[in-house]
Amino acid sequence: MHDDRLTGVCRPIRSPVTRWKSRLSAAAFLSVSLSSCSGVQSALDPAGSEASAVATLFWVMVVGGGVIWLGVIGLMIYASRKSRSLMGEAGASKVIFFGGVAFPVVVLAGLLSYAVWLMPAMRPWFGGEGEGLRRIEVTGEQFWWRVRYLDTSGKVIRESANEVRMPVGERVLFRLKASDVIHSFWIPSIGGKMDAIPGRINELQLMATKPGSYRGVCAEFCGTSHALMAFTVQAMPASELDAWLAAAPAPAVSPNPGGPAPADPAPGLALFLRHGCAACHAIDGTEAEGRIGPDLTRFGQRPTIGAGTLPNTHENLVRFIRAPDQIKPNVRMPAYGMLPEDELAAIAEYLRGLE
Ligand code: CUA
Repeated sequence: MHDDRLTGVCRPIRSPVTRWKSRLSAAAFLSVSLSSCSGVQSALDPAGSEASAVATLFWVMVVGGGVIWLGVIGLMIYASRKSRSLMGEAGASKVIFFGGVAFPVVVLAGLLSYAVWLMPAMRPWFGGEGEGLRRIEVTGEQFWWRVRYLDTSGKVIRESANEVRMPVGERVLFRLKASDVIHSFWIPSIGGKMDAIPGRINELQLMATKPGSYRGVCAEFCGTSHALMAFTVQAMPASELDAWLAAAPAPAVSPNPGGPAPADPAPGLALFLRHGCAACHAIDGTEAEGRIGPDLTRFGQRPTIGAGTLPNTHENLVRFIRAPDQIKPNVRMPAYGMLPEDELAAIAEYLRGLE
């Protein structure tokens, strides 16, 4: 006898339009989910040893969970059949013990042991304190990242902002600090995140395994512009990084096409100094030595402005200097909308020329 209690009566009446809608939304969901599996900011497209461990654990959990889910659904379908034979009390107790107690205990203990076993790969400080490692100090600020490259004695070799350059195939010790509120330093493609907390230094070891350009983010709500506090990560051969650290920044000078080497400093620098930008920003090789805002040495090399907020173009930079709070709410930098357009343009041109 056919039983339509489960198949017929409760089935919703669906028009072809509804069916198409649900197919389309399923396809959209799938494409969004799959597209987030790759790219410059995906923990599932690992480019670092710690991110690989995280991705492996994720896939083991997904596949294991999927197999168990299929088993449970299969059992449910089996139990809903009317023709099955009745089970005795002893048999039912066995099902409850093995299915409800023994199985979850074994599976969860297995997964926990596996995750604990993977942990040294995700948090390498289990294996040592990181003596002799390259050190990069990163400070979370509202709403940007101060990045300092240190030598083995802890002396600052070079300061930068919103951009981390790290070697490929070499473990790096990140010393994480915060100057105002709690931030969280996270490069999904390279490894797990760690909080940056005012008044203390957290250490995180990461190793990039693939050269490339990646995106890091702040992973702890830290204020209005929390979501506008990203940074770029360049993973490169160690020799290239050492050359970048050792090279003196080229002084920006006024363009003089075809003529002899220009000697005058760029007009943008004079405006930058005259309008007080140097009170907050530093540029190596100039009088600008402010330490409140991001260091702007080699600003022209950075792909973004405002900590990953906008592409580094002339128009965007002029907009940012004119009214930074319209791009990043509650940013600390005052607006310079009172400056004439040609002065804004000259400052932007000068900054973008810093290599
Ligand atoms: Cu810094 Cu969120």
